[in-house]
Amino acid sequence: MIRASTMQHFVAEENRLERSPDIEDLKGAFSRLPSGVVVITSTSACGEFAGATVSSFTSLSFKPPLVVFGLAQSSATLSAILSHGHFAAHVVAEPHQDLAMRFASSGTDKFNGVDFKLSPFGVPLLTQFDTYFQCTLERAQPTGDHQLLVGRVLDVSLAGRNATPVAWLQRSFHVCERVTAL
Ligand SMILES: Cc1cc2nc3c(=O)[nH]c(=O)nc-3n(C[C@H](O)[C@H](O)[C@H](O)COP(=O)(O)O)c2cc1C
Repeated sequence: MIRASTMQHFVAEENRLERSPDIEDLKGAFSRLPSGVVVITSTSACGEFAGATVSSFTSLSFKPPLVVFGLAQSSATLSAILSHGHFAAHVVAEPHQDLAMRFASSGTDKFNGVDFKLSPFGVPLLTQFDTYFQCTLERAQPTGDHQLLVGRVLDVSLAGRNATPVAWLQRSFHVCERVTAL
């Protein structure tokens, strides 16, 4: 038989779980999850270049080749992708940390002084990056305060320069090292 005090505890716990967790706790928990980072670029309907640093980017499917990531509803890069339909995702490695922080800022000309070439679709491809994906937008779904974007990979660039990989962890970049076999 369940005692009345145990029952009260379960009800209180159920009520607590039905509320959203504290936003700072949520951010704190996610800050402990190491993630890869990409710089997304696109071009707005009026021809302005847009770009944002993103840690939510990952592989979704190989057949067909799909990627998925989230962008805040307020993102200028989101507007550009929705209107243009194409984007590129550049894999951030150790030499690109400053560029990644620049593309995480707002209100600046992020492309000023940055080397790039235009893709056949008019998307800026940042030439400092060894690895990037060229994608077309398959689906956009408003989800909470973000939009969930699914892209189909049209082409990948894999320059063989082997830059040291980095992960975003506890609000800064960390160099990734292979764990030695035990
Ligand atoms: C490491 C890192 C990862 C980020 N990941 C995301 C993300 O996944 N989605 C997002 O909307 N913003 C993310 N941001 C924030 C955007 O880069 C930032 O809001 C940027 O200013 C958006 O630019 P825009 O408004 O010109 O598109 C991240 C920032 C950093 C530093």
